[in-house]
Amino acid sequence: MRASMLRWAGVGLGLVALASSVTPATAATTPSAARDPYFPRQGNAGYDVAHYGLTLRYDPGTRHLTARAAITATATTRLRAFHLDFRRTLRVSRVTVDGHGATFTQRGTHGHDLVVTPAAPVRKGDRFRTVVRYAGRPQAVTDPDGSIDGWVETEDGAFVVGEPQGAPTWFPCNDTPRDKARYDFRVTVPAGITAIANGELVGRIIRHGDWRTFRWHSGKPMATYLATVTTGVFRVRTGTTPGGILYYIATDPKVTAASRDVLRKVPAMTDYFVGLFGPYPFGSTGAVVDHAPKVGYALENQTKPLFDSPPDELTVSHELAHMWFGDSVTLKRWRDIWVNEGFAEFSAWMWSEHTGQKSAQAYFDRYYAKKADSWVFSPPPADPGGPADMFDGSVYERGAMTLQALRVKLGDDTFFPMLRAWYAAHTYGNVTVPEFTAFASAYAGRDLSAFFQTWLYDAGKPTTW
Ligand code: TRP
Ligand code: ZN
Repeated sequence: MRASMLRWAGVGLGLVALASSVTPATAATTPSAARDPYFPRQGNAGYDVAHYGLTLRYDPGTRHLTARAAITATATTRLRAFHLDFRRTLRVSRVTVDGHGATFTQRGTHGHDLVVTPAAPVRKGDRFRTVVRYAGRPQAVTDPDGSIDGWVETEDGAFVVGEPQGAPTWFPCNDTPRDKARYDFRVTVPAGITAIANGELVGRIIRHGDWRTFRWHSGKPMATYLATVTTGVFRVRTGTTPGGILYYIATDPKVTAASRDVLRKVPAMTDYFVGLFGPYPFGSTGAVVDHAPKVGYALENQTKPLFDSPPDELTVSHELAHMWFGDSVTLKRWRDIWVNEGFAEFSAWMWSEHTGQKSAQAYFDRYYAKKADSWVFSPPPADPGGPADMFDGSVYERGAMTLQALRVKLGDDTFFPMLRAWYAAHTYGNVTVPEFTAFASAYAGRDLSAFFQTWLYDAGKPTTW
């Protein structure tokens, strides 16, 4: 990261060199063989997933899941065998590739991979369809920071969050944020239970005996960690924002009353961010508030952020802002987490400012007043140090302060058009921190490398910039 910043040593030359690095991201979602430095077991080389068709049947009474995943992908190389990320707690019973039985193993020591060997190799460039049948009792995983992630059982169903490594606890996938895909879900649950996935409901709920099937379609590219199938008893409200975006809001009856006032603001928040950043990237907006207090965080599940308890206004606006920054414009590697969290937190400050509450500058001032050894300043947001610290408070608050400081430095008339251009250039794509800092410098037509060095990378409290 530092190395690319050094290109800024000569401003005039640097700007010319950067012109090519700010071209819009392509729609391609090539899984990289390069290992993620924070989660080296994630993701697989050799193919690019276009679509997941997930058919699940879940009984919260027995906690048992029976499922079938149909994965449509293109081979980026000749494949004699390929890997899917999938936890061994679920047992695979059968795998087919293009309709023919394939051999498979849920390989030993790591317990993360389903290795599939098709009857005949898949040729480079071919589109192929893998169907995996599996069942069992899904189990959440513990992250390096001690929090849980994945399929989290609740009293009446499951609270499903996949950041950063929970997706393979419930479906086989290419679990890297770089391989986005479209999704269709068919989820069958007992009558009285609602199954909530990403995207929009398709048709009516299908009734068969004591079971109900919910079909959801998520038609825009989505990273695996943003996929959800959350189940339980829910009250549902649907509608359209004043700006014309469909919304779906669900609450567990235990928390409906306590979340009512803040959830009323979801439509206005969504419309506000459209004005600030650009067109809403997905087919619908919304929120789901469940009762899962042991989780301890909320997640920006695509189209429907998921909350473990009644959220405050800052948290709801933070998660909705992630639809632009995080879900549409997504980190490329986990150590680039600032491009998700710093932007979402700054956006929440902007909603606060917009509604006549505390301004973004007032948030900045309050945090800046803290002592140099405060949690607010360490670790530096673009260099958290490792997966145990990627969600540290400094990534959020010093991360948002960075953008507020940049706003002041450039002025609103340059800063906000720059953010809009960044979003427009990378919609549905993946980005790194150095790509953003280069983009900002090129857009502003000045060398911002010292500014970003101070705010994003240097240890301790920034003093001059
Ligand atoms: N991305 C979430 C947010 O800021 C937070 C989050 C997701 C998280 N997974 C986590 C925090 C795991 C701690 C541990 O909205
Ligand atoms: Zn966030």
